[in-house]
Amino acid sequence: MYSALRLSFLLPFLFLITKNSLAQNAVTIPIETLHNALVLQTDKENHLGITYFGKKLGSAVEYQLVTSQSRQHDGNAGTYNSAYTPAGSWNVSEPALQVTHSDGNKSMDLVYVSHKTSKENDNVTLTSIVLKDPVYAVEVTLHYKTYIHEDVTEQWSVIKSAEKGEITLNKYASANLYFIAKDYFLTHYNGTWAKEMNPEQEQLTAGMRVLDSKLGTRANLFQPPSFQLSFDKPATETEGKVLLGTLGWSGNFRMDFEVDSYHNLRLIAGINNYASEYPLASNKEFTTPSFIYTFSENGKGEASRNLHNWARKYRILDGEGSRMTLLNNWEATYFGFNEEKLSGLFKDGKKLGVDLFLLDDGWFANKYPRNNDQAGLGDWQENVKKLPHGIGYLVKEAKNAGVKFGIWVEPEMVNPKSELYEKHPDWVIKEPQRPEHHMRNQLPLDLSNPEVQKFVFGVLDKLFIENPDLAYIKWDCNAITFNAHSAYLEKSKQKQSQLYVDYVKGLYKVLEKLRAKYPKVPMMLCSGGGGRVDYEALKYFTEFWPSDNTDPLERIFMQWEYSYFYPAIAQSAHVTDWGKQPLKYRTDVAMMGRLGYDIVVSHLNEKDLQFSQQAVATYNSIKDVVWHGDLYRLVDPKENSYASLLFSSKNKDRAILFSYLTGNRNGDGSDTPFRLQGLDPAKKYKVKELNLYPETKTALKEDQVYSGEFLMTVGFNPAVSARRTSVIVEISAQ
Ligand code: GLA
Repeated sequence: MYSALRLSFLLPFLFLITKNSLAQNAVTIPIETLHNALVLQTDKENHLGITYFGKKLGSAVEYQLVTSQSRQHDGNAGTYNSAYTPAGSWNVSEPALQVTHSDGNKSMDLVYVSHKTSKENDNVTLTSIVLKDPVYAVEVTLHYKTYIHEDVTEQWSVIKSAEKGEITLNKYASANLYFIAKDYFLTHYNGTWAKEMNPEQEQLTAGMRVLDSKLGTRANLFQPPSFQLSFDKPATETEGKVLLGTLGWSGNFRMDFEVDSYHNLRLIAGINNYASEYPLASNKEFTTPSFIYTFSENGKGEASRNLHNWARKYRILDGEGSRMTLLNNWEATYFGFNEEKLSGLFKDGKKLGVDLFLLDDGWFANKYPRNNDQAGLGDWQENVKKLPHGIGYLVKEAKNAGVKFGIWVEPEMVNPKSELYEKHPDWVIKEPQRPEHHMRNQLPLDLSNPEVQKFVFGVLDKLFIENPDLAYIKWDCNAITFNAHSAYLEKSKQKQSQLYVDYVKGLYKVLEKLRAKYPKVPMMLCSGGGGRVDYEALKYFTEFWPSDNTDPLERIFMQWEYSYFYPAIAQSAHVTDWGKQPLKYRTDVAMMGRLGYDIVVSHLNEKDLQFSQQAVATYNSIKDVVWHGDLYRLVDPKENSYASLLFSSKNKDRAILFSYLTGNRNGDGSDTPFRLQGLDPAKKYKVKELNLYPETKTALKEDQVYSGEFLMTVGFNPAVSARRTSVIVEISAQ
């Protein structure tokens, strides 16, 4: 009893001494962006730990002092705060790396070897840190690519083995981070078809919280690999410390959030190791996907604007470029069309004023025609009954009508009722001994198989070769992976546990090859909803389909949540007949993204048509601000009876304010002003209501001049009410 007391009294003292003596020989590696720093430091055993994450210090030398302020006995000594936690030896925390060596041994340790920093340009720096196992010939290089002005870090790992025989990677995370705060609030998303992106915020408590997917092909159906993490208290749009994180991987992912016994938070993010032990041959390396994150001390608004700036500049294909407005025929015709009907729709597109006509599902397959979703996927030849003159004729007809032509494909999938399935049953992912399990009557093709990769590339290549004027692709993917088994891996004596990973690698190979040959053609990434979007896929795609649910009320909530991670230029938003709202409301919501239409234009009455034609023209006049400007989420529909969001041009000369009534109780709407953001307090602005329905008048005083200061201090009231359910306001500097 006496000695135990004495010991607990002495321990903090001993700890401080040890830490101070260590700091002198320690290697300290600060990884900085404009405002933030991640600091790594070695301990006396040469293990690399994270000692600091947060606001950057003026003097980098002081990072060495950070650990001297800690009285947590070993919290900063490499057990919990490891920069890349190895499994199976002294560190018994949840690992980032777990390996089975070629001799069957499962222990792993990692010590610091060296690091180097190289500048790609004035804004982009890469820090690479080499760690190695002192006993086995396994080496890991941790990569941290920083985008200084965007405060964004992209982090990944490369695992190398020089063991004589093959080793197995049991867990192989992209990133391992460590945070010290009073409390942690995690916002993650759940969803399913037509109900995507429902946020849930929870305070993390001791132990593990895992966000993951095991769905394979369209891995994000129930949960995307994106989250918000607030420190100390839940961040708001304008206040609080918050990290936005997302994994660039179009397959199974796993993110471990572990509050340790010191109430610090460990984060390990990467490919899901579920059923995915990955073999690594001698002298080969495995590169993990990127974990991408940004941190702000000023709330979620700033954090998401940083991510948007980064994504447009460095990641999304043609992210700083332009997009086409379009008319899609899916909800107008479903599978029921022919050349004559389509020619009529091309003219409708022209009448509406859009740039492109997009032909959706149903144009292909002959032995098992694609007249519904039960047959034909895989047989990518024009259906001769519907399209006797082929796609080439349609492209020409569209051109004659004055619109470009785009087409829908779902090249990773096959219906059992198809010639492709009959010819190549071994190209299909299925468990040979078990009954097939289908989603939407279809199965994924086995993209781990190079023959299948060739086939998928060939589907697109043939379309482009035969139709050089083809201007747009909608790439769909509507089934998850059941019965994950590959005949190819079996035949080539590889491991079944490679399938989930090799599928995604195979997909990227196809996309890489496609983009090498066709670098610019815009492509939409679709998956019967938001089942598939991430920042690796967006290297190849210009936009994504957030949800099949185009009810504008639902879209306000979904697009709001997507906007934390993806800029408006990448979000396809179509005016359709979903929902009960008037056409103006539906249009005003779609104008917050890349505008498209999926309606029967010939069914519009005269006023609706006139309104829609004006809306397309109005959109063309504001799209630059929506696509390339800064987004401010001002009034959250989750907490109010209306929503309001503002996009402002980088020079703050012009802003577009979108407001929507979301409640339907008596008196709901904007009674009082709310503060705008993103304007220049010193500039004078005038407001003008856009997109008014024919024969309606604005409720705004448009001749009034306001200072930016007034609009951002007193605020502005767009007068949203049951009589004005959606309002778009242009705010222009005088
Ligand atoms: C998915 C897409 C829709 C449409 C259909 C076609 O559901 O999300 O937009 O393309 O497939 O079958």
